[in-house]
Amino acid sequence: MIKYSLKIVLIFCLFGMHSCEIIDSTTTNVNLSPITSVEHVEQKVSALLKQMTLEEKIGQMNQYNGFWDLTGPAPSSGNAAKKYDHLRKGYVGSMLNLRGVENVRKIQKIAVEETRLGIPLIIGFDVIHGYETLSPIPLAESASWDLEAIKKSAEVAAEEAAAAGINWTFAPMVDISRDARWGRVMEGAGEDPYLGSKIAFARVQGFQGSDLSKHTTLAACAKHFAAYGFPESGREYNTVDVGTSTLNNIVFPPFQATIDAGVRTFMNAFNELNGIPATGNTNLQRTILKDKWKFDGFVVSDWGSIEEMVTHGHAKDGKHAAQIAANAGSDMDMESYLYVNELAALVREGKVKEAYIDDAAKRILRVKFELGLFDDPYKYCDEQREKEVIGQPAFHEAALDMAKKSIVLLKNENQLLPLKKQGQKIALIGALASDKTSPLGSWRIAAKDNTAVSVLEGMQAYTGNQLTYAKGADVSLGQTKFIDELKINTTDRSEFPQAIAVAKTADVVVMVLGEVGYQSGEARSRTDLGLPGVQQDLLEAIYKVNKNIVLVLNNGRPLVLNWHQEHLPAIVEAWQLGTQSGNAIAKVLYGDYNPSGKLPMSFPRAVGQVPIYYNYKNTGRPLMPTPSTVFWSHYQDVENTPLYPFGYGLSYTTFEYSALQAKVVSDYEVNVSVTLKNTGKFTGKEVVQLYIKDHYASVTRPVRELKGFELVSLEANESKKIEFTLSEKELGFYDNEGNFIVEPGDFSIFVGGDSNTTLQSKITL
Ligand code: BGC
Repeated sequence: MIKYSLKIVLIFCLFGMHSCEIIDSTTTNVNLSPITSVEHVEQKVSALLKQMTLEEKIGQMNQYNGFWDLTGPAPSSGNAAKKYDHLRKGYVGSMLNLRGVENVRKIQKIAVEETRLGIPLIIGFDVIHGYETLSPIPLAESASWDLEAIKKSAEVAAEEAAAAGINWTFAPMVDISRDARWGRVMEGAGEDPYLGSKIAFARVQGFQGSDLSKHTTLAACAKHFAAYGFPESGREYNTVDVGTSTLNNIVFPPFQATIDAGVRTFMNAFNELNGIPATGNTNLQRTILKDKWKFDGFVVSDWGSIEEMVTHGHAKDGKHAAQIAANAGSDMDMESYLYVNELAALVREGKVKEAYIDDAAKRILRVKFELGLFDDPYKYCDEQREKEVIGQPAFHEAALDMAKKSIVLLKNENQLLPLKKQGQKIALIGALASDKTSPLGSWRIAAKDNTAVSVLEGMQAYTGNQLTYAKGADVSLGQTKFIDELKINTTDRSEFPQAIAVAKTADVVVMVLGEVGYQSGEARSRTDLGLPGVQQDLLEAIYKVNKNIVLVLNNGRPLVLNWHQEHLPAIVEAWQLGTQSGNAIAKVLYGDYNPSGKLPMSFPRAVGQVPIYYNYKNTGRPLMPTPSTVFWSHYQDVENTPLYPFGYGLSYTTFEYSALQAKVVSDYEVNVSVTLKNTGKFTGKEVVQLYIKDHYASVTRPVRELKGFELVSLEANESKKIEFTLSEKELGFYDNEGNFIVEPGDFSIFVGGDSNTTLQSKITL
């Protein structure tokens, strides 16, 4: 009890509003002047650091996964006991995967009341697209191109997670990727650095809000630094070898955007980059991130990535790995146990400078102060708030809104969509149509299985039609174990006949096909981008008896859809849309929401084209110059272009672009205007996209680069003039020394509804 009171006094004096002098037998005397809040964080951090032993500073750099059954007694032996002992000694700075107010409070209490200095823990969690109420997967959200909605989605996620005791999210993932084989494309914003940067900025703003110390906000984490999205052959964790130009112009910009948004943490990556693991990469973490970009938050390793440097063949053993990582600027060790076990000795042996330890501890403490954890370590631990906030109706409304905005209409022949609301016989087919878990995606740690609204449920809300459901084929929905789920699709065709019978007599067949939730995400690379299992066979069997098929896709990555584009009248890309999935899909199918999403990644015609992206380089031999030319950059068996390009997506209405004008108004400033008209019958939204082509430069430029977009809503027949201003920021690029430069020359400006647009104007700078 005496010790307890002493800790409280100590914390109050150090971090509260009043100056005081305290004497604690276990600490040195502290005399601090009055401290307000934000402006004096640095003073507070330095004052605290002065009191810390080397081991305590290293303790701040140690992060453990949730480690014992919180409702039972503390463990007395084994690894968990060791972690528990470390916690009580102040050798743990952060925990991850701890959630729920009761659990967080229990652990926080040990850190605050039982350790010598009572420094609170920062509690991290993968709040990727929601906590318990899930929004669409990030790739899907990105298809909305709606920055306000994306920001709102992150805000909601933060508020809900913060009510469960969490104060730090390992999001946003801002890795650009051009490779649909890589399962983690579902967690990013797609292939483009400009769109990716805008979305990265919006997400950080949403998570962190304007005041990090509020109990409704979380510290965000830009991950994975860097180039994790470029694994060779799309195989998870594989080698990354990326040149300077791509690094500077494609990989880095979204990370820089998170810094502009004030992101407080970064996560490094599992991959090696050009021979050096990201976790041990001094150039990335110290030179670029901390020195050049002036990032003053902290860098957490990825899970066990410090130790993995041994397996990479970069470190001799664990101790060596800890040395490399600490020297390279990895501030916090997630689950390698190496900082806590090896760093103190490394400092004493002179292999790691104590200044690096101080710097890392300072960075971590700074964020804890900013979160307000020193003012009130239990500020995220309010049982009442937890009960009231989690799962509240407003969050479901926001999830529904985001889900509707994320859907992309890929094809709609003869206006099959929207469906008529009365007098129709609708056949709904596919195991995914009744699946209430897959729409939650693979990042659903805090969401309960079976909590998404299925397409079947969403469509049942429309009672004017006769709806009949048939599964057709199993998609192996045993969702509780990863391994079970990976037995995706059996070869069982026994339920085909029933589905065929239902389809035969229907006016319209809605087929929901694609991937189950765990088929994309971490460690879920694929070499085949078709519909898994027997789903394609089922689709073709149904097509034989009824061609009026609306294909609704549920998937976490671009798929190859040639047969579908050729044969089916309507295709809807509905990704994995989260908790409100089925409601959103039904509203779009029935026209209560007019789809406006645009693809954030190119959809290939064949896996062999991958990596495929719209902002490719022209090469020296781009087009067949004469009919007899044999040698030019192409495939013999498939066109170079993707099936659906980046930025593509239809609406129930149609839009017309005209009167494009581009005018150089000063040295490096260009004004662009275009008129957009809604030429169809429905009110609708269009993402007006502006691309530039820099015709020649000291470092070759892509054939097109997105440099502006605006989401415009127009009623039928309405027109609007849309204006953009291009400045140095949009017209320039990074050279191979990493300098941002703008060069005079000829540019084409393209404006339209996707990256293939032909409407263009030329300017000379
Ligand atoms: C992932 C990270 C994630 C971490 C903690 C790793 O496997 O790569 O993105 O934040 O686990 O769950």
